[in-house]
Amino acid sequence: MKTKPILEEFTLPCGVIIKNRIAKAAMTERLANKKQQATKAIVDLYKHWSSNGAGLLISGNIMVDGRYKEASANIVLEDESGIESLREVAKVATQNNTQFWAQINHAGRQASIFSTFKPIAPSAIQLKKLMLFAKPKAMTVAEIKDVENRFVTTAILAKKAGCTGVQIHAAHGYLLSQFLSPKTNKREDDYGGSIENRARLLFDIVKRVRVELGDNFPVSVKLNSADFQRGGFNEEDAMYVIQYLETLHIDLLEISGGTYENIVFLTERYERESTRQREAYFLDFAKKIKKQTTLPIMVTGGFRSQKFCNEVLANKELEMIGFARPFITDENFPKIFLEDENYRVGDATFDFKIKKMKDFAEAGFYDYQIHQLAKGKRLNPKYNPYLAVLRLTKNELVKGWL
Ligand SMILES: Cc1cc2nc3c(=O)[nH]c(=O)nc-3n(C[C@H](O)[C@H](O)[C@H](O)COP(=O)(O)O)c2cc1C
Repeated sequence: MKTKPILEEFTLPCGVIIKNRIAKAAMTERLANKKQQATKAIVDLYKHWSSNGAGLLISGNIMVDGRYKEASANIVLEDESGIESLREVAKVATQNNTQFWAQINHAGRQASIFSTFKPIAPSAIQLKKLMLFAKPKAMTVAEIKDVENRFVTTAILAKKAGCTGVQIHAAHGYLLSQFLSPKTNKREDDYGGSIENRARLLFDIVKRVRVELGDNFPVSVKLNSADFQRGGFNEEDAMYVIQYLETLHIDLLEISGGTYENIVFLTERYERESTRQREAYFLDFAKKIKKQTTLPIMVTGGFRSQKFCNEVLANKELEMIGFARPFITDENFPKIFLEDENYRVGDATFDFKIKKMKDFAEAGFYDYQIHQLAKGKRLNPKYNPYLAVLRLTKNELVKGWL
């Protein structure tokens, strides 16, 4: 009998084999301790996920600089002190022949006031959202070089800790994505202006990470197809970046989209009928890039049924399928999903009236679910989104400031 595409192995360019086509995309765990190190809760979470059958688990964003976090309780991996605790996570996450990759990130201007009142960014352009982000300082070239070094250091440390790959986060409006976007990068030096310049920091990081980690170690990049904002990073820019990344021999390109200003990677599905019908909203772009590159592609966002996954894999539209929320709306995902061709993961739905805070409520709602799983408790699809906002704010405040 022919194997279903979703169950087939995939061999990355570096030679590493992923046992099937399902990846858990990065989801920030916000469960580190005061020292910003991994905790037992994170170990338990990945023990759970590695037993459920996904071929690849990508960690929530691990920060390369503790001063500029995405959330108060992020793991920070700047030096050897973070290795032991992360090793415990890698040990359980790689059980059952599962790949476990560290997603590494710097928040730049998207570091909230719970993390810093003095964020840094390519240019001094503030993110205006719920008064949660301070005006950033434009980085000096020395600071840019420091960030480059930090990404390389964190990648090396992640490998030492037993992670079996790394993913460089250049999407969703964080620092590398801020460099890529002409809306947030107004620099007039070698790091601004043309897309070649805006992508310089990302390319310099990828080149050095590849050298340091060796040819046989998976290196991935998560990139926006576009920022979905006028004057922002667009598909043409993305195409250039992808073609250049191919020459740098990365193993997997993950496609997503949006920033905190337009959080399409979470909300698009609810808003556009055509993409809802099509199920996966970044797929159209993936199809276009398939014509231009041989890089293995993973698309994340909106996949919910096995049939559809098999269809796009069989059509060779992509190589890996990324899922995030299904891992926290269905305790057993992807176990049953892999077994039953007719199974479809449902989405959590909730009623939240304050439009400006809807994405914050969604983040809080899913944060709660992740923490339930980490504690070995049942998921709660009826969790009140207003409580979720209060809980998330309290946690950010307590863990960030106290
Ligand atoms: C709770 C939560 C946390 C997330 N954290 C991260 C993250 O740390 N890094 C990242 O690249 N994307 C993050 N994302 C985005 C997801 O990786 C993914 O791109 C998005 O949720 C769309 O996929 P889905 O429709 O399968 O959920 C997060 C999403 C959720 C719901």
